[in-house]
Amino acid sequence: MDHLRNFCIIAHIDHGKSTLADRLLQNTGTVTGRDMQEQLLDNMDLERERGITIKSHAIQMKYKHEGKDYTLNLIDTPGHVDFSYEVSRSIAACEGALLIVDASQGIEAQTISNLYLALEHDLEIIPVLNKIDLPGAMPDEVSDQIIDLIGCDAEDIIHASGKTGVGVDDILEAIVKRIPAPKGDPEEPLQAMIFDSVFNSFRGIEVIFRVFNGSIKKGDKVKFVATGKTYEADEIGILGLEQIPMPEIKTGDVGYLISGIKVAKEVKVGDTITHVHRPTQQMIKGFEDVKPMVFAGIYPVDTTEYEELRASMEKLQLNDASLVWEPETSAALGFGFRCGFLGMLHMEIVQERLEREFDMTVITTVPSVQFKAQMSDGSVQNINAPSEMPDPTRVTHIEEPFIRAQIISKSEFVGPIISLCMDKRGTIQNQVYLTSDRVELSFELPLSEIVFDFFDKLKTISRGYASLDYELIGMKVSKMVKLDIMLNGEPVDALSAVVHRDKAYEWGKRLCEKLKELLPRQMFEIAIQASIGTKIIARETVKAMRKNVLAKCYGGDISRKRKLLDKQKKGKKRMRQVGNVEIPQDAFMAVLKLD
Ligand code: GTP
Repeated sequence: MDHLRNFCIIAHIDHGKSTLADRLLQNTGTVTGRDMQEQLLDNMDLERERGITIKSHAIQMKYKHEGKDYTLNLIDTPGHVDFSYEVSRSIAACEGALLIVDASQGIEAQTISNLYLALEHDLEIIPVLNKIDLPGAMPDEVSDQIIDLIGCDAEDIIHASGKTGVGVDDILEAIVKRIPAPKGDPEEPLQAMIFDSVFNSFRGIEVIFRVFNGSIKKGDKVKFVATGKTYEADEIGILGLEQIPMPEIKTGDVGYLISGIKVAKEVKVGDTITHVHRPTQQMIKGFEDVKPMVFAGIYPVDTTEYEELRASMEKLQLNDASLVWEPETSAALGFGFRCGFLGMLHMEIVQERLEREFDMTVITTVPSVQFKAQMSDGSVQNINAPSEMPDPTRVTHIEEPFIRAQIISKSEFVGPIISLCMDKRGTIQNQVYLTSDRVELSFELPLSEIVFDFFDKLKTISRGYASLDYELIGMKVSKMVKLDIMLNGEPVDALSAVVHRDKAYEWGKRLCEKLKELLPRQMFEIAIQASIGTKIIARETVKAMRKNVLAKCYGGDISRKRKLLDKQKKGKKRMRQVGNVEIPQDAFMAVLKLD
């Protein structure tokens, strides 16, 4: 095992992880110029376009150093908070980590949270100051931040640029010299950890694992401990640029397993693989089910596409086990699905994938978190949608999920950040100066307040400087009420929301105002009302339309007319009729932008 090194790259989003990973692949000759495509590891189109790594990937490189051959397994990790569970599993599969810090940005919230995860698993940290080619790079200042944070020496920090390739060879050398080879006993019963899975429509689900003890051979009967299911290892192998089948994967190494698994749910990241006949007594610690944090309804725009949408969701779920859903009906929107997501970014990605990969046009309703109602009869009821809010007279209290948020920012923005968090019902827990002008603030905040526009607001008030990371800490009693919206007296259930009582009036008022902007004028007047129970708390009116849009295009410019009609038609695609009122998709998301 001396020749093996397992490492990951941890960084705050956009600090250049994927670019640097590509460089490592190039310099080790894993890819040649011709295969080289920018950001090779991000092989989903969507990932490439959004420039973010959604799923973790692993890749093996061969590297020769001082006459010795080494095998380096690079385990790529996603950077966004929505996917932090995957980061922690990837980290658990490694002995070392490259900690990448953008020299023009400095340390950010996820740099720290990911570093802590790595330290919890006792990883050897190799600090890399990246993007030193940038004119705005501040190598000295950021080096000081890194030294303060991890307590290393200035000489330990490698100066690099994924763009020019500077420092990449130093990084490879450091991986071999500083990161320890894996430990583990080849004679022990098999103990391997699943840290990722990939869906392949022909071969089923490919499980990516790291062997801690023992070894796995082709044809072995294996068991996944958490699910209790058993399989035959039809094919195992290592992950190069492509999969390379192998007869055996040994202690310390990383590999893939194919055994005809069709359903993503059977493969749980963090689960332990062992042999059916000589099983390990120990599960790899730290396995937990990933729980959805944000819930929203997804409905087909065209109601006749419900079955097609169901089929698409089923397919999507095959390769995204963190997506959960169940059928739901809405008076306004008809048949659809209540879905659970890891966070807002995950929700956007699901919606986008449904549209791109399955050509489905969908309406997403107001996202919400999971509240719990303590009922007077002693039972507890989960509330995943406003429509599930029980009759208030039967409820003793309602609890909502709270998070602990870490915000790192320049000290000049501390005031506005504290006001923002207080406005979001947060309480400040701690304030630590990392350097003279960088401060780390911790808050306890209701998750429901973060779900909406919190991150955007934080970025705005800190001129882009603040970064955020959070973890769930538990449920707390809150005075939540259900706020309904009516259009011309018809309740639009898809616009209802569960909100804090102290904020309900403001919310109702602003939502009515926003809807007034978003609802297109129609041939008649539209009354927009917000209510709690039977009490109306706000009202706005959309005046009736006077002119038809085509009237503007006098004369014979037919192409312009056609364009306008086309535009209207396109807009219509995303409209929904409720009673006699047409509602555009924007309106269903209006709550997200209530300022
Ligand atoms: P996520 O996967 O979303 O976490 O991002 P990442 O950390 O992988 O960052 P990525 O490699 O996608 O780089 C982010 C941006 O920085 C891209 O626009 C890159 O072109 C740019 N970039 C990356 N490395 C360098 C570098 O060394 N120098 C310069 N000037 N730009 C870089």
